[in-house]
Amino acid sequence: MAAPTSATATKPPPNSHDLQERIDAFPRWHYRFEFDDGVTTPVPDWSRVNRHEQRRRYFFDALVAIMGGSLRGRRVLDLGCNAGFWSLLALEAGAGFVLGIDSQQTYIDQANLVFEAKGIDPASHRFEHANVLECDLDEDFDIVLCLGVMEHVARPFELLERIANVGAKVVVIDTALSRASSSFFEVSTLAEARDGVDGKLVLVPTRQAVIELAARFGLQAVPLARNMSDWSGLEDYRSLRRLAFICSPEAPSPTLPVERASPIAARWATMVDYARHR
Ligand SMILES: C[S@@+](CC[C@H](N)C(=O)[O-])C[C@H]1O[C@@H](n2cnc3c(N)ncnc32)[C@H](O)[C@@H]1O
Repeated sequence: MAAPTSATATKPPPNSHDLQERIDAFPRWHYRFEFDDGVTTPVPDWSRVNRHEQRRRYFFDALVAIMGGSLRGRRVLDLGCNAGFWSLLALEAGAGFVLGIDSQQTYIDQANLVFEAKGIDPASHRFEHANVLECDLDEDFDIVLCLGVMEHVARPFELLERIANVGAKVVVIDTALSRASSSFFEVSTLAEARDGVDGKLVLVPTRQAVIELAARFGLQAVPLARNMSDWSGLEDYRSLRRLAFICSPEAPSPTLPVERASPIAARWATMVDYARHR
């Protein structure tokens, strides 16, 4: 990493006592981060740690593999960055710069705390409190991470148009799905209005809708074959209510494992859900 200039000098990381106090001041954390002296962020249970570890293996490792084994020097845009978990992984994989955007100030504060506590060069990243559908996106990026965001917006076409306009070679979309086999968006209701920016009503795509929406903006989307080794905390992926897609303006890498459409599996998952919730 380049030595920081005086204008962007890395602050010394907070001592462990101060860091723990600052971590504990947040009402909730979605990710477990580990710092020096055994300091960690608290997460409700182990299945959440497993969820993000499995997601990392599922789509983030696939991304790094198709980029040739490293994100060296790449500019990464992390939409809905939350506490900066994926931004941090991108820098650790060699990215040259990451811009993280989130609509909740509390998550931007978490991301800034994590990066400060890890002693990361401030010139390597920026976290902005903004709505991804309305902020200025006038820089170019090599990679866009759109993870867990599409199902939080009521304007998926605008979202994809904005993503396509930054000129990335690869876009990773991880989204909740409606399980029908045709191409449509299901009207759904967020549990909390604060999770989105358009109120509680949002549009959740089917698998085919993601593929067609991406194609509308010049991106070929490959649904990634699920490779989870432990399904704890991943019921949505297991029941085909969530998948990741690797999208690119060029022909997709032939090495990407494809999750084939399976109407029978989807119908079976629907019946299991129905039986469980009766
Ligand atoms: C389910 S979390 C996903 C976090 C992370 N990207 C992941 O996949 O692990 C969704 C995040 O997107 C943010 N978000 C939702 N709608 C947004 C919008 N329109 N603009 C910016 N951030 C948004 C939320 O505040 C939240 O942090």
